Amino acid sequence: MLSIPAAAGAQSLSGAREWLPPGSLSLDALSLHPEEMQGGGVQQSFYAEYGRLAFRSPMVLGGTASKAGLSCQACHPNGFANEDFFIPGLSDAHGRIDVTQAFWNNRGENHRNDPLTIPSLRGVKSKDRLGHDRRSASLREFTRRVIVTEFGGNEPNPTLLDALVAYQETLQPATVVDRPVTMAGDLADIGRHLNTLAVPLAEENAALSGTIATMVRGQLGFIHERLDGDDLAAARDIVEGWSRGLEEIAGLAVEGKWRPARDRLAALHEAVAAPPAALANAGPRSLYNPVRLKAWLARSPAATQ
Ligand code: HEC
Repeated sequence: MLSIPAAAGAQSLSGAREWLPPGSLSLDALSLHPEEMQGGGVQQSFYAEYGRLAFRSPMVLGGTASKAGLSCQACHPNGFANEDFFIPGLSDAHGRIDVTQAFWNNRGENHRNDPLTIPSLRGVKSKDRLGHDRRSASLREFTRRVIVTEFGGNEPNPTLLDALVAYQETLQPATVVDRPVTMAGDLADIGRHLNTLAVPLAEENAALSGTIATMVRGQLGFIHERLDGDDLAAARDIVEGWSRGLEEIAGLAVEGKWRPARDRLAALHEAVAAPPAALANAGPRSLYNPVRLKAWLARSPAATQ
């Protein structure tokens, strides 16, 4: 089974090490992910882009999933299905998981050991019923239930739900093509996320600016934890500086200082588009390099045995 590589770019290494049982991380799942097939390519509406970010953000979920750094993306990488996903005790085979378990949410426990195959979400827009038992006709309702009932997250606000639905509706049926998870790819995504943040800053909406800034900082955290080792301290400093920049932008938004907030975002955007050499050249020495990642996993109790 492990020879089928498909999986999660945005899955936290340190979160898994701390919160998931040994055997929950696989090299394939962390170093390859299926190509994302969005109708309309990278030109998406604000809702689809915010949804894409939220889909990758553990903070949307609650409880153990959130602590372990798992987002929708961990199980449905780029809208496909993580065929390697395996948590000992909760999975009976790779790509299958019990989502009605106290491990995730005490309130969601159904007192049955009932792992289900993680489905691909590609083409979900045109499905008439959702769930293995076809229990739901509404993507919005299903998504809310996933967040609140299965994973113990806070009640999502209407904009967040609209966004998650809009993103999932862009996912096209497609054959699976795996691509390596790269720092360049993750940095390009940060650029997209900063464009998303520009919208609430232009609207002068402090609450949404703060939420999106926090989500983007979470994505920077995923990059940061791949910059493992003493020789990458300078690269980590750059990412930490960007994260502080986002915190400042959110603070300026709260104070109603919109122009400085937008100027600060524009400067950050430029920096991310042309990262300093210490970061741009760090990829081969980081955990984006599958050889390095393999060695790291061998030292990690969370790795697949
Ligand atoms: C720990 C793994 C996991 C995570 C995290 C997860 N899912 Fe799922 N998802 C599943 C499994 C397993 C099913 C099958 C459930 C069923 O059939 O009842 C599923 C089913 C679905 C479906 C129904 C698809 C269909 O064709 O019937 C949708 C939609 C969905 N998930 C969206 C999401 C969204 C949005 C998130 C994040 C808010 C998310 N999932 C997070 C594992 C996960």
